Amino acid sequence: MMLGAVQLGAAAACVVVLIPMGMAGWHLSRNKVLFFSGALFISLAICVHLTPYFPSLPEFVNSVSSVVVFDPRTSCTNLVNDISWQVNPKNASSRFHINATDDLDLYDKRWDWSGSHKLKACDFQKLSRSDASDLLNGSWVIVAGDSQARLFALSLLSLVFGSEFQRMDSVRADLFKRRSDYSILVDEIGMKMDFVWAPYVVNLTDLITDYKTQKSCPDVMVMGAGLWDMLHFNNTSDYEFALRMLKSKVVSLLPLSTELPMNEPVVGSVPIKSSSHLFWLGMPVLINGMLNTEEKREKMSDAVWHAYDRALGDSKLLRQTGGPLHLLDSQSLTWNCGPRCTSDGMHYDGAIYEATVQIMLNTLLIESHQRL
Ligand SMILES: *[C@@H]1O[C@H](CO)[C@@H](O)[C@H](O)[C@H]1NC(C)=O
Ligand SMILES: *[C@@H]1O[C@H](CO)[C@@H](O)[C@H](O)[C@H]1NC(C)=O
Ligand SMILES: *[C@@H]1O[C@H](CO)[C@@H](O)[C@H](O)[C@H]1NC(C)=O
Ligand SMILES: *[C@@H]1O[C@H](CO)[C@@H](O)[C@H](O)[C@H]1NC(C)=O
Ligand SMILES: *[C@@H]1O[C@H](CO)[C@@H](O)[C@H](O)[C@H]1NC(C)=O
Ligand SMILES: *[C@@H]1O[C@H](CO)[C@@H](O)[C@H](O)[C@H]1NC(C)=O
Repeated sequence: MMLGAVQLGAAAACVVVLIPMGMAGWHLSRNKVLFFSGALFISLAICVHLTPYFPSLPEFVNSVSSVVVFDPRTSCTNLVNDISWQVNPKNASSRFHINATDDLDLYDKRWDWSGSHKLKACDFQKLSRSDASDLLNGSWVIVAGDSQARLFALSLLSLVFGSEFQRMDSVRADLFKRRSDYSILVDEIGMKMDFVWAPYVVNLTDLITDYKTQKSCPDVMVMGAGLWDMLHFNNTSDYEFALRMLKSKVVSLLPLSTELPMNEPVVGSVPIKSSSHLFWLGMPVLINGMLNTEEKREKMSDAVWHAYDRALGDSKLLRQTGGPLHLLDSQSLTWNCGPRCTSDGMHYDGAIYEATVQIMLNTLLIESHQRL
């Protein structure tokens, strides 16, 4: 504190002396220089003497930036989907499969959060296997939905299992049995993950009703459905109605994570317990010309896609429209990664789902105050 005052005094002296000297260089008359010098000295003196009555500067700046201008928690949960991609042709030598039949393997895909100033302040990070294990230790995670959700579940497990490729091979074999549920307990971290096949929104609503009757409540739940509805029903008003029903079930049945007051101390290392963290896995961009059946190309047109997307907005299911679910924005991820990231215009490269998992984990970190 004393040191600060001394430095401030020295700085003030420099200003008082140097600014008028600089001005003299700008051809001001001697009287004007004296006048400015005096005025500066007086204002600085007033500042110096009033300083003790104000909170210290860093505290002041912090409180302003967090309360008034920039609440990092809400702002960062809005920005967490802001990811940019670099997709470049791979060198033949660096390809994983020598005789790759897989077109996706021709490109090297890197992603990161975009580098804007605000995003930097959020300090998003790609969680390592051990960070993810710490965060998910002892928790119950449910992933429910269609094949997009299945790919998300696969990606989450491959982060948790890291380089245990054999375990991942067996996970993959079981998880990809068509139209079936899957459940796994990861002993090392006591994490239970369920994948529930739920291609329609009404299946998700039923699921939540079931959990309520069983009085069991997941810590993290990721859901998403829409593509099947689009293909088999093409009725956006029904879809929107189903989403509204889902929303009201979620709100009435689950204890939701709420925004905690700032400055609350973080206790313990398993902070995601005690309430449910809910996510909506958005629909990916569909690249019509690449869809693999005539029926899909006809029914899953861009117009229908956009109508379904509007229905999601109108249903007010998502946080950004005042609802309970955080959006995992598959649309922006897949749009930014582009056609080189998909082989059938609907299911995307692993990198997309890897990024989606990291977006979810970073949102959990923000919600659980681990970072602020
Ligand atoms: C690709 O090849 C070029 C030239 O052959 C080389 O400079 C570059 O380092 C290679 N990149 C990778 C990722 O292997
Ligand atoms: C190419 O792939 C096929 C089937 O996946 C495999 O039988 C064959 O040995 C591979 N060839 C090379 C050169 O790796
Ligand atoms: C998980 O949490 C338990 C107790 O809460 C702890 O004993 C264990 O070491 C943790 N495991 C990991 C992998 O962090
Ligand atoms: C999902 O809902 C549809 C329509 O109600 C129903 O026909 C189907 O059996 C349900 N699927 C599952 C897996 O519950
Ligand atoms: C959509 O479904 C609603 C109610 O099920 C029905 O009244 C409406 O006619 C349907 N719309 C279309 C375009 O089929
Ligand atoms: C989907 O429904 C809309 C509105 O009812 C209709 O205009 C459109 O032709 C339908 N699209 C397909 C591919 O069936």
